[in-house]
Amino acid sequence: MSNPASPPAVGVLDQGPELTFPPGFRWGAATAAYQIEGAATEGGRTPSIWDTFSHLEGRTVAGHTGDVACDHYHRMPDDVRLMADLGLNSYRFSVSWPRVQPGGAGAANQEGLDFYRRLVDELLAHGIEPWLTLYHWDLPQPLEDAGGWPARDTAGRFADYAQLVADALGDRVPSFTTLNEPWCSAFLGYGSGVHAPGRSDRADAVRAGHHLMLGHGLAVQALRASRPQAQLGITLNLYPVTPATRSPADAEAARRIDALANRFFLDPVLRGAYPADLKADLRQVTDFGHVRDGDLAVISTPLDMVGINYYSRHVVAAPVEGAEPEAYWRAPSSWPGSEDVRFVTRGVPVTDMDWEIDAPGLVETLERVHRDYTDLPLYITENGSAFVDAVVGGRVDDPDRLAYFDAHLRAAHAAIRAGVPLRGYFAWSLMDNFEWAWGYTKRFGMVYVDYDSQTRIPKSSARWFAEVIRRNGLAAQ
Ligand code: FCB
Repeated sequence: MSNPASPPAVGVLDQGPELTFPPGFRWGAATAAYQIEGAATEGGRTPSIWDTFSHLEGRTVAGHTGDVACDHYHRMPDDVRLMADLGLNSYRFSVSWPRVQPGGAGAANQEGLDFYRRLVDELLAHGIEPWLTLYHWDLPQPLEDAGGWPARDTAGRFADYAQLVADALGDRVPSFTTLNEPWCSAFLGYGSGVHAPGRSDRADAVRAGHHLMLGHGLAVQALRASRPQAQLGITLNLYPVTPATRSPADAEAARRIDALANRFFLDPVLRGAYPADLKADLRQVTDFGHVRDGDLAVISTPLDMVGINYYSRHVVAAPVEGAEPEAYWRAPSSWPGSEDVRFVTRGVPVTDMDWEIDAPGLVETLERVHRDYTDLPLYITENGSAFVDAVVGGRVDDPDRLAYFDAHLRAAHAAIRAGVPLRGYFAWSLMDNFEWAWGYTKRFGMVYVDYDSQTRIPKSSARWFAEVIRRNGLAAQ
């Protein structure tokens, strides 16, 4: 950060009693390999499904790719210094599978592992705890060519890769997340096809979801055996799903979407079973013949924590004849068997993604997971917002993003007061980056990135977040 001593841009921290977070609370920021690293063909890295997909015509806005991204691969020490200036005590990053195991099989690529070893050492030298995500959507292309996540074998390949990373970095990384948001990998990647690999087959999407979870369970078992001290978990993107009205038909629509968005993953991972109503809803799509005896026991291998990514709420209504689906990621086949459910906007303020801002939904989500599923420690592994930013006189003031963080941190604090064992918060994202199908057109960073010069400018939300971390809290309102 250019001037860490400068006061917060907004005065809310200066007044009133504090909302203090528990001692030892983890304050971090999150990124993902393909979104920031660039250096797509360097150091022995081979293509992932996102390299292939982003280079296809018309798949990303303006044909943007992650070829260069934030050039983090070359600027890593400076980026870690930036994190240290912000006072982060944790950093969640992902390892690029095709960088450390080119092609997704066989021996490790030492040059790739060395990059992450340097990153981890740099973090530790700055007192920042590394939090490693094994899979943030960059499946090695040859594994996709062999069938991708709809193929059972991919789960085994993932566990081998997890082992390889644990062998190389497990001595210095205390926390591992297996998958980031398997809903997106399965239902956007193989359902609607708006994410890599861009396939669209409803049964394959369901199969992909199962094999992702199987890979998660196998990876947890491998990591547990070789790194008994490591804290292991998964990151799910969860949404409260609210019916638009009190009508039974809308309640039914909400039940169906909740089953696909949330319980499809929560129930197998934390209860060892698929929900009966989900299986009934999917009757026309699949007979679940891809689920073998013993799979659910593997999938529900005990964890040490659960990571939750929270952005917004879904408000849904019963189908109406001839109605159009709404935003791109709600494209019909993201919701197999429930394509005709309508996603409703309520007219409340939205971010630049058109996602409704709904901080109370974070409290609901955390309370639900704690009440209905687990006593395990919970972490918010992503939360944040895209807004249009402008550099004025060398500064970027982002009051909307700051207000989003502020509201969601108050919600996180309320959840803790209500008894939820929330142990940390990772802002999405450290810096602006490649926002998947949206390319570089959506800015989620606390730090602004000028992609032409690769200059980083901490936004006012970053200076504010640094002050929150310093105080381990916020002023009560
Ligand atoms: C999440 C992803 C992350 C980023 C944010 C905005 O779904 O995990 O990579 O794209 O959304």
